[in-house]
Amino acid sequence: MASPLVPEPDWVRVRASGKINLALRVGGVRPSGYHPLATVFQSVSLFDEIAVRWAAPGRFSVSVQGEQADLVPTDETNLAVRAARLLAEHYGPGRLGADITIRKTIPVAGGMAGGSADAAGALLACSVLWDLDTTPDELRTLGAMLGADVPFQLMGGTALGTGRGDELMPVLSRGSYHWVLALSEDELSTPEVFRRFDELTPDAPDELAMPTDVMNALVAGDAPGLGAALINDLEPAAATLRPGLLRILQTGRELGALGAIVSGAGPTCAFLAVNEAAAVDLSVRLSSEGMCRAIRRVTGPVPGARLIN
Ligand code: C5P
Repeated sequence: MASPLVPEPDWVRVRASGKINLALRVGGVRPSGYHPLATVFQSVSLFDEIAVRWAAPGRFSVSVQGEQADLVPTDETNLAVRAARLLAEHYGPGRLGADITIRKTIPVAGGMAGGSADAAGALLACSVLWDLDTTPDELRTLGAMLGADVPFQLMGGTALGTGRGDELMPVLSRGSYHWVLALSEDELSTPEVFRRFDELTPDAPDELAMPTDVMNALVAGDAPGLGAALINDLEPAAATLRPGLLRILQTGRELGALGAIVSGAGPTCAFLAVNEAAAVDLSVRLSSEGMCRAIRRVTGPVPGARLIN
């Protein structure tokens, strides 16, 4: 792992992972603007690091470094700042403040819940920094107020998400899975992908079937079965907004991936490999195709947001 972002002892540091959706079933939009989901999340070993230290009461600052740092807002809209403020309002209004530093490797607006990982990291780091007596459940409840993916980013591992994706149940998963990620040059807006889904799928159901094929493959540790069962209802919407995605998915399949899927709302694409050697081979071959910004090899499941000091 890279050297610590901020080695000073007055900083509390958290590592938060990215996620992919192994199944993402989407229902018809609700009056709230949200869509009911039946999704299986898996945390993968691509990490942002979030460090926090005390600041004057009411002061919340953030600086961002690492990959695509220039794409992350550093004002009040930053999700880590919003998370720290929300926690402070609940547990010590007017008394608490934090300087936040984020080092990014999770793609920005890439469909891997990087912003939600930073929010989860800030919630956990600030609760330790400020010595708050929060339970994981309380942090998850606050997290859900910040974004549908934040509760899973706190929890990590493998989980079934229903409701807006924020009602979680752990999923039994045997073994470790080897993924190759194709990171895109540009971003995709999640609300825009959901709007395109609405246009393409006017008859999306209210009730969603559970993704049992994916869950059965996970419990059996069956990588080929998982590869065949991967499903993302947002993929057609993401692909009409970024037509190049279908070619990337097809190329990965032709190069031997067990399965290929757009991650969440995209544009990151995830390819499942049969083992580590196959993942190395696939990543080299995909790299040489020159179709994306970067290729990363990751494994999952890994934990969600965790302290690292
Ligand atoms: O909850 P979060 O802020 O991460 O969601 C971003 C956007 O994604 C929402 O504003 C909404 O447009 C869309 N979304 C949705 N249904 C969900 C989750 C997200 O429509 N279950």
